Amino acid sequence: MNELMRRLGLRVPVIQAPMAGGISTPELVAAVSEAGGLGSLGAAYLSPAQIVEAGAAVRARTERPFAVNLFVPHPLPTVTPEEVAAATAELAPLHAELGLPAPTLPERVQEDFAAQFQAVLEVRPAAFSFAFGRLGTTERAALRESDILTVGTATSLAEAKALAADGVNAVVVQGGAAGGHRGGWMQDDLADTLALTRAVAAAVNLPVIAAGGLMDAADVRAALNAGASLVQCGTAFLRAKEAGTSAPYRAALAAADPGQTVLTRAFSGRPARGLANRVTAEVAIPLPSPLQNALTRDLRTTAARTGRAEFLSLWAGEGHARGREGTAAEVLRTLWPEGEQ
Ligand SMILES: Cc1cc2nc3c(=O)[nH]c(=O)nc-3n(C[C@H](O)[C@H](O)[C@H](O)COP(=O)(O)O)c2cc1C
Repeated sequence: MNELMRRLGLRVPVIQAPMAGGISTPELVAAVSEAGGLGSLGAAYLSPAQIVEAGAAVRARTERPFAVNLFVPHPLPTVTPEEVAAATAELAPLHAELGLPAPTLPERVQEDFAAQFQAVLEVRPAAFSFAFGRLGTTERAALRESDILTVGTATSLAEAKALAADGVNAVVVQGGAAGGHRGGWMQDDLADTLALTRAVAAAVNLPVIAAGGLMDAADVRAALNAGASLVQCGTAFLRAKEAGTSAPYRAALAAADPGQTVLTRAFSGRPARGLANRVTAEVAIPLPSPLQNALTRDLRTTAARTGRAEFLSLWAGEGHARGREGTAAEVLRTLWPEGEQ
């Protein structure tokens, strides 16, 4: 039991990673928190009203602490009409295979962060985590006032130091093996999870949360031995019963051999790790984030609905082949068997 566990009231030193895009359902978050870990709601793609609703849905299922996660926004990139036309033309044949017209860039490409943030304050979770950058002073003060534990994401020692200087309460250290988007904003060396955990724990006076490729009890132990206070696992929960992972995504995970992940910008314009498929192989000139994410939304939604995994973002970490089915509580027990006692 360390200070961070005590502050969050955890029995199990495991955070279920926030997984935006409907995977970290209120059911998953509540089940993990009920079982003694910390469930996190990935709220980045939710509207403010949906965030409040999802927070209430978690609370209806558990009185235990949970986290909410958002993406720090950046100024929208400027792109030329030619670049948009090229990215659109590249996706058009894939759309045609699904019977969809060529994609178009919507007017609104992302949610309003300030309004999302207000919704998080309204939900008042025990912890707020964020990726892709640093918070402003107003947000930091608001979180402090609401007594919400603040957790930033670093993929390097330099980022961890910047977050520490901002006064975050803990830092997620994301190794290169991690599934989903790279959560940093400076140079990313895709560091080994345990090596980066050791380096940050030694140099930064903050609790470290290790993430990336941690799939079983031995991995969790190793991360804690490397200096982490907690671990954050995403891929391990993808096939949990309560997760919102679509049927074709689940089938692709079950069928994938080890070593099938790639880092790709094809779906969102930002580097993310997932199972290789036709989109990661065929899309070569994505628009920068968040434009590509908006441009591929129809493709991903239709592919999920019609069972076409070759067109879906199949985010997964390098440990994906060691993932298993079961309830969230069962998955949590494979990560921390001591929790049963
Ligand atoms: C499907 C998926 C979605 C993710 N979405 C988010 C997110 O919304 N916010 C975030 O901070 N991290 C997100 N991540 C990254 C996780 O926080 C974490 O770094 C990663 O899952 C750890 O590696 P692992 O998948 O090998 O356990 C996501 C990961 C996955 C697999």
